[in-house]
Parts: sequence; C-alpha cells; structure tokens
Amino acid sequence: MSAAAAAPPPARAGGPRTLVVKVGGSLVSDKRTDDHLDTAAIHAYAALVADLVRTFPGRTVFVAGGGALGHGAVRDLDAADGFAALDLTRATFAVKWAWTAAFREAGIRALPLQVAAMCTDQRSGAVADLTVVRRLLAEGVLPVLSGDCILTADGSLRIYGSDHVPGMLVDGSLGPVRIVTLTDVPGILTGTGPDGPVLPWVSPDDTASAHALVWETAPWDTSDAMRGKVDALAAHARRGAECVITRGDRASASLHHLLAPMDRWPADVPHTLISRTRPASLPHPRTAPPPSDPGITSARS
Ligand SMILES: Nc1ncnc2c1ncn2[C@@H]1O[C@H](COP(=O)(O)OP(=O)(O)O)[C@@H](O)[C@H]1O
Ligand SMILES: [Mg+2]
Repeated sequence: MSAAAAAPPPARAGGPRTLVVKVGGSLVSDKRTDDHLDTAAIHAYAALVADLVRTFPGRTVFVAGGGALGHGAVRDLDAADGFAALDLTRATFAVKWAWTAAFREAGIRALPLQVAAMCTDQRSGAVADLTVVRRLLAEGVLPVLSGDCILTADGSLRIYGSDHVPGMLVDGSLGPVRIVTLTDVPGILTGTGPDGPVLPWVSPDDTASAHALVWETAPWDTSDAMRGKVDALAAHARRGAECVITRGDRASASLHHLLAPMDRWPADVPHTLISRTRPASLPHPRTAPPPSDPGITSARS
C-alpha cells in the first residue's frame, strides 16, 4: 500500500473527506454536434485536477460529462429496443479515454471505470460496488467515471447520466462527500444574463425556487440541462452530499478551494449550494425583507 493508503489525510473541519468533481460537457465540447471534443480544454482542466490530486492524494473522484458524444449517442433511441442505450457506453468511454490520456500527460495516475460494470438497478434503486474506487483512492490513483447505460431490474438498459453518477459515491465509506459540478454558468442564474446573480442556496427538500428559474432546454440536450442537474443534485443532497454548481474556468490558478470548507471559498467564485445545511452567511428567513420588497430575496450572494 502507498503512503496515501496508510495515512489518508483527515478532512479539514467543515470540508469534505471526498470530492467528486464533474466537468460538464458544455466546457469541453460543442453539444450542438454529435462528436466534438475540445482536447485543449480537456488538457487545461486535467492539469488543474491533476494539481488537486497531487496536493490532496486519494480524495478526488472525477466524472466526465458526456458532451456532444454522450448526447449524440442517445438521441432518437428506439423505444422498442431495451438495449438501445448500449452505444452510450462506447461513446462515454471515448470521452473517459480522452480525459485519462490528459491526466497521464499531466503526470498523475488515472484509471477509467465503466459505471455499467459497477452499478445496476435493483428493486430498491441503483446499487454500486465501490470496492475498486476505494482501492484506487487508497493508492492515490484518480478514478475517472462518466455517464453510462446501466442494467435495470427488468434486464434492459437505461441511461444513467453524468449528473446522476456522483450519487453512487455518496457512501459512508467515502463521506462526507462534496459534489462539485463545473459548468458553463456560475450557478442557477436568477436573471437572464450569464453573469447575473445566482441562487446562493437551494434546499434539496424544496426545489421549487430553483425550478422556477430554469429556462427552456435546448432541443439537442438529452439530460434536461440545468433542470436535470438540479434534480440529480437535490437527490444526492437528500442522501447527505453537499452539492455545488459553479462555473469552470480552464484558466483559473487552482481548484484547491473545492476541498475547503464552503465559508473559506474565495469571495469571487459565485456558486449555488444544494445541501440540507443552510449556509450560516445567509440571512435567516425571519430576517428576510417583507413580501412587499421587490426582487428575488434568495438571489443575494
Ligand atoms: N436559471 C438558469 N441558470 C443557469 N443556467 C440555466 C438556467 N436555466 C437553464 N440553464 C441552462 O443550463 C445550462 C447548463 O447545463 P448543461 O448545458 O447541461 O451543462 P453541463 O454540460 O455542464 O451539464 C446552461 O448553459 C443554461 O443554458
Ligand atoms: Mg448537462
């Protein structure tokens, strides 16, 4: 066993034990196509994640968004064919491989894992075997996951999208778990501009405020964009994860804050937190402005 396995670094107070970081396809591909992958962007993000893994070994799991290849594989599926989603496993493996090659070039050990081989639906819901993930983390190796198709209880395949995959890591053996989805917007925007204010916090038990702000999904998106992300992350948060939506910046200096307590994140990183724990920095509901006050009260950040 490696040194990382013998003495895993303790999580800092208020920070997670394990970080699941998902880089959205929107950051590394043009999803209006079926096959675009921006390798320069992948290399830039891979270098940032590699630095995180070198600094905090054994604490990060990577999830690759499917982007153009993922969405392209599941458009126009034949509803009569229970195995129609099979092409997704090939498409997302190509994406995982692009990331894995970039991690190797960035100097860290990374291993792509097929979610379909680790996770199936049972009558009680999706069940995952995390034995290999735990071993990889213990050795300081970065597990590289992606969306996939998984076997259902009735023997067909269903799509298990990359916003859902982090949920399989929400397990006592890895917790506390933080899930950060890096995407092309700074959080759930409360207005129409891409740089406007975002909802600072969403209760996973009441997502109505978030749903009300989500605009119509583009026709080429097969995972319902922000609405799909909110619903997936709320489900993970109800199982105990701390979930964050924030914008990815391939030119940023570091991703170290992703493992820091939320109240120590840089002030200039807008984000939406989806967690059962309400941030202490938010005004208590009783001190919120009276109803006559115009504007969205939860939009202050
Ligand atoms: N209120 C909102 N705030 C931010 N983004 C929104 C909102 N409503 C819809 N969206 C859409 O969600 C997109 C992010 O989701 P998505 O494209 O699936 O990203 P990813 O590739 O990271 O999964 C944004 O680019 C935007 O088009
Ligand atoms: Mg998406």
